[in-house]
Amino acid sequence: MNNKHRWTSPSNIAIVKYWGKLPGQFPMNPSLSFTLSSCHTDTEVEWNGHPLNDDRRFVFYFDGHERPDFAPKLEQFFGFLDGEMPWLKECFPVIRSSNTFPHSSGIASSASAMSALALCLVTRERELFPDRFPDDTSFWQRCSSIARVGSGSACRSLYPIASLWGKTPAVPESNDHYGIPFAKNLHPLFHELRDYIFVVNASGKSVSSSAGHALMAGHPYREARIAQAHKNLEAVVGCLASGDWTGFSRISEEEALSLHALMMSSQPWYLLLEGASLKLLQAIRRLRESHDLPVCFTIDAGPNIHMLFPASCEQAVEDWIAAEAPDYRGPDQLIRDRAGKGPVARV
Ligand code: PMV
Repeated sequence: MNNKHRWTSPSNIAIVKYWGKLPGQFPMNPSLSFTLSSCHTDTEVEWNGHPLNDDRRFVFYFDGHERPDFAPKLEQFFGFLDGEMPWLKECFPVIRSSNTFPHSSGIASSASAMSALALCLVTRERELFPDRFPDDTSFWQRCSSIARVGSGSACRSLYPIASLWGKTPAVPESNDHYGIPFAKNLHPLFHELRDYIFVVNASGKSVSSSAGHALMAGHPYREARIAQAHKNLEAVVGCLASGDWTGFSRISEEEALSLHALMMSSQPWYLLLEGASLKLLQAIRRLRESHDLPVCFTIDAGPNIHMLFPASCEQAVEDWIAAEAPDYRGPDQLIRDRAGKGPVARV
């Protein structure tokens, strides 16, 4: 039995957004995302790593420093897992984590963090109870379902290129419990998808995603949103299969703007986009219309703008950034990411 497990796991960017949840961390609507590559979390769990007279359930280090401020979210996660993984109560994990990108800035750091942690926990579980994991599929489904409990979007970070979570008639094997792999349903155009993240503001979010999801419960547009997400999910599945970039762009932008419109029309309302975010949205639209380039945007729960495009226009986009977006040249302002291969086990 290994006394340490370590995984790196990527963030993901949703094209059809999960927004609003039901008890048990189930989604109000189905969602579909691309798995990222550069934006990832590296997590090591050392088992029985802290003294037995320490009454904490775990110790958490981020970037080498103990971070009690992350404890409440982890306490909640471990609390949810009491029924699912009773063996965890005897294991006293010391968790050491680091990110390649700023946390809590709307670059879905909870997705990479919770999926990396879930991978470590389920790897331990597989060593303890090998009979419960007859094949690889059962391992990945279990990881996704445990990651979901930590952060809904995290259940979509487990697979190469793309993942789908939530029941939709468009994909018979889809379900609300765990994300499923989606790469084999993609036209080659999307395998090399680029996601350039323009970091408008890397500081923490003013309103957490959890608070945002909660506001959907009594939202005046709740039913319309659920219907919109289902319609967009079904349509995007077709676009991804056929390589219809125009249809994909329209859905990606509609979903991003709807997400933020839902935040602005919540009670109480809130606003995560900034002036610079809006300028980028206009600039991306101009670039598409005036240069006839297949670029579009999506936005997560934050002010940063994700510009999506096929690999074939990388040079044209680089030229445009050099000429038109001088504020976004440094590595802290622009993260050049792409669809990625999914989590990696480390020794
Ligand atoms: O996983 P959470 O609870 O952080 O929610 C994430 C929700 C969005 O990032 C806004 C959309 C999504 O589907 O990833």
